[in-house]
Amino acid sequence: MAEQLTLGAESIIFRLDQWDREFILKHRPPKPYLLKAIDDLLKLSRTNRECKMLTVARSLGVPTPAVLWIDRKQHTIAMDFINGTQLKQLVSEASERKLRELCEEFGRLIGLLHDGGVVHGDPTTSNVIVDKQSKVWLIDFGLAEMNATVEMKGVDIHLMRRAFETTHWDLEDTMLESALVGYRRTMREEAEEVLSRANEIRTRGRYH
Ligand SMILES: Nc1ncnc2c1ncn2[C@@H]1O[C@H](COP(=O)(O)OP(=O)(O)OP(=O)(O)O)[C@@H](O)[C@H]1O
Ligand SMILES: [Mg+2]
Repeated sequence: MAEQLTLGAESIIFRLDQWDREFILKHRPPKPYLLKAIDDLLKLSRTNRECKMLTVARSLGVPTPAVLWIDRKQHTIAMDFINGTQLKQLVSEASERKLRELCEEFGRLIGLLHDGGVVHGDPTTSNVIVDKQSKVWLIDFGLAEMNATVEMKGVDIHLMRRAFETTHWDLEDTMLESALVGYRRTMREEAEEVLSRANEIRTRGRYH
């Protein structure tokens, strides 16, 4: 039986219990206001990209749900269900120590991606799932890209920072600080160049 889990801006997520296992169907429904041919092309590109990048990310050591199958006509991906909670929801209930630990791991995983030349594209706290063992998983790779430049990595860090700001104004500094500890750990010397580019992007955004 399929049960609708969420209705996102881009997709509908169903949870399916079958063959003694739980998985997720991520379906990108038609957008009535777009010309069908353009809509189809866009969705095919996002679906293919997500499928490929979930696997590329895993090969870099980032926990991501395994893709089980893909239906290109229906723009649907079946993947493992990660039984856990969005980082976004944990922010208000976790202790500061736990929150620091989780954000550090989030930053470390973004660093692993960047070190492998990959950007996530939408690194928000709703795209981070924490499971029962406190393992941190990244999802939602429809905007991820390979062969990333310093500018692209800078944008990723900028988006992560923005996500912390919009999630919790009073915890944003703690979250950012911890994420950057993890990020620096995996990116080593390359981190500083990306972080100063992220600051530059932030200034550009504010004054233009
Ligand atoms: N494999 C999964 N396991 C568990 N939960 C998932 C999984 N995939 C998606 N979800 C849940 O569904 C939500 C939306 O999924 P996802 O972020 O992939 O789609 P989206 O359309 O990009 O959503 P949004 O526009 O809200 O970011 C996630 O934040 C998460 O709570
Ligand atoms: Mg999402």
